[in-house]
This record gives sequence, structure tokens and C-alpha cells, in this order.
Amino acid sequence: MKGIFITLEGPEGSGKSTQLKRLSAYLKRKGLNVLSTREPGGTRIGERVREILLSPRNRGMSPLAELLLYLASRAQLVEEVMRPALGQGKVVVSARFSDSSLAYQGYGRGLDKQLIRKMNRVTTGSLKPDLTILLDINIPQGLKRARAGSKGDRLEREAREFHQRVREGYLKLAEREPKRIKIVKVVGSIGQVQERIRQHVDELLKIPSHPSLSPRGRESKVRG
Ligand code: TMP
Repeated sequence: MKGIFITLEGPEGSGKSTQLKRLSAYLKRKGLNVLSTREPGGTRIGERVREILLSPRNRGMSPLAELLLYLASRAQLVEEVMRPALGQGKVVVSARFSDSSLAYQGYGRGLDKQLIRKMNRVTTGSLKPDLTILLDINIPQGLKRARAGSKGDRLEREAREFHQRVREGYLKLAEREPKRIKIVKVVGSIGQVQERIRQHVDELLKIPSHPSLSPRGRESKVRG
């Protein structure tokens, strides 16, 4: 596997998709071959699974059925998109991956975390991100942002306590794996948050991010 795999994680309303777009544009400007994707979804089949998962009409879904559907979407994405792209040496950037199942179905729903770890391994063939950015936001603020202008999807409609457990779960995951999971607090402007994300990504990719370097100088030092 020659490529590099980066994931963005976080509770509702943490700004993952906005930050993902900016990050992938940044990496493309650096001359890197970037593939951005998201979970659940990212493939035709996965996007259909996403509809089932997020539809508020499916309120009665059991936690185990929910976990299995997220894993189904992930299995398809890994095989159809991620492994081929990584094999071609691309930088794969994904909004959410296996950590979401641990945070939401493990810490949030209370399913056995060891079981989820095992199932994640089977689903992904033990594929792990090289770097995970955890966008940490306080839950009332995140939920307000996520629900703005809509009633929210099935997960967003869960109680505040559920989302609180998810957030705490994420922080525990980061504590367990401090080298891989870097916490970026969602405070300040979108640009300021992006800047903090880039510091971790630059570190991983060894892109010099020193402001005194001219754009040309920076470009010439990119290693892909
Ligand atoms: P989002 O893509 O808009 O963040 O919506 C996806 C929702 O699905 C979000 O509420 C988090 C949730 N989710 C899980 O519960 N488990 C998972 O494994 C994944 C990937 C997402």
C-alpha cells in the first residue's frame, strides 16, 4: 500500500465536510493526487445504504442492524474505492471511517467495543488511517449547527446525552492512540480550524508549512 490515508472524525456539526473540501483543495495545490470520500456512502451502493441509515422513518432500527449497515457501506468503500486509490499512491481523505462506529455504536449505543473493533478489522482488512483529525466541538453548539434549518436526520435527532457519549468516546479513542488521532478544537473561524488541521497533515506529509517559504519554494519541497 503506497498511498496515505487521512480521516476526519467528530460529533455532529463539527464541520467535517467543509474542512475536508478545503483540505483536499490544499493538498491538490501541493501537487498531490487526492481522493476525497465520505462515510456512510462514497460508492453507489454505500450512498443507498446511507439513505436507509439516515432516514428518520427508520426510527425502529436496532443498534446491531445499524452497526452492520455502517459496516456494509464501509466494506464496499474500502474494496471499490480506498484500496485501489491507495494502491495507486493517492492521498485518500475521508470524512469518517472505523472510529465513527466505535464512537457512535460503541460509546453512543453501548454495543461491545471489542466486537466492533473485530468487525472493523474484518470489514476493512485491517486498513487503518495514517492520521485521524478529531474535530472536537461542544455538543450543544454542534447540534445547533447540524440541525439548523432542518429537523435533522435519524442520528441528529438522538438525545443530547447520546451525542455527549459519542463525544466522550471520541476523546477516549484519542487518548488511546495519541500518535494517530490528533484533536483539533472547533473554535475560531473555518480558516483557523483548517490551519490547525494542516499543521498535522503537513507534519505527516513533511510539507514545509513555514510562512516565510514562498509558494514556489514550498511546491518544490513537496514529497508525495
Ligand atoms: P454525516 O456524514 O452527515 O456525518 O452523517 C453520518 C451519520 O452517521 C452521523 O450521525 C454519524 C453516523 N455514523 C455512525 O453512527 N457510525 C458510523 O460508523 C459512521 C461512519 C457514521
